[in-house]
Amino acid sequence: MSTTDDGAAGRNVSGAAGTPASAAPPDWEALRAAARGALRFAYAPYSGFPVGAAAVADDGRVLTGANVENAAYGVTLCAECSLVSALIMSGGGRLAAFTCTDADGRVIMACGRCRQLLWEHGGAELLVDTPHGVLTMDQVLPQAFGPENLARVRDGRPVDDGPAAGTQGTRETRAEAHGEEPS
Ligand code: THU
Repeated sequence: MSTTDDGAAGRNVSGAAGTPASAAPPDWEALRAAARGALRFAYAPYSGFPVGAAAVADDGRVLTGANVENAAYGVTLCAECSLVSALIMSGGGRLAAFTCTDADGRVIMACGRCRQLLWEHGGAELLVDTPHGVLTMDQVLPQAFGPENLARVRDGRPVDDGPAAGTQGTRETRAEAHGEEPS
């Protein structure tokens, strides 16, 4: 995994140099080239199916990833896994546009598990390159389960007016949400 590769090094794939990805349409050809560049890092001795992935983050950063297989097949890491790790390990942020390619350079669709990964780090508006064109994340993973579902329940009980999604809240707000006296 890396934040740049031969396909994208030195380039801003968000459209205009220095423009945040969220403010300009992605340069899909540059992003696809970055995904093809990542293919050479794939470790796919079992399937013989290398995958390269590339994404642009909301600050214009380019992330890449490749699949990393394992003799225990089920432990295989898809290209999206290393891409998401690259996002987090290079400072975090949100994914704005994503593409994935096979060894022939064809755009492939993220598997079901990886759609969930992309949802977590890009949300409904993430632009996803697919064999049927560019779609939004909520089109490729409708009615997704996400962090807001968890925020609606705490300790097995519904939280009506609890803390906003993604926050833990204070001891007091958690207790109030459960109708308890804070200690
Ligand atoms: N693969 C990915 O890397 N991403 C996907 O979204 C689909 C599948 C990899 C996993 C495995 O190493 C190989 O493709 C064959 O399934």
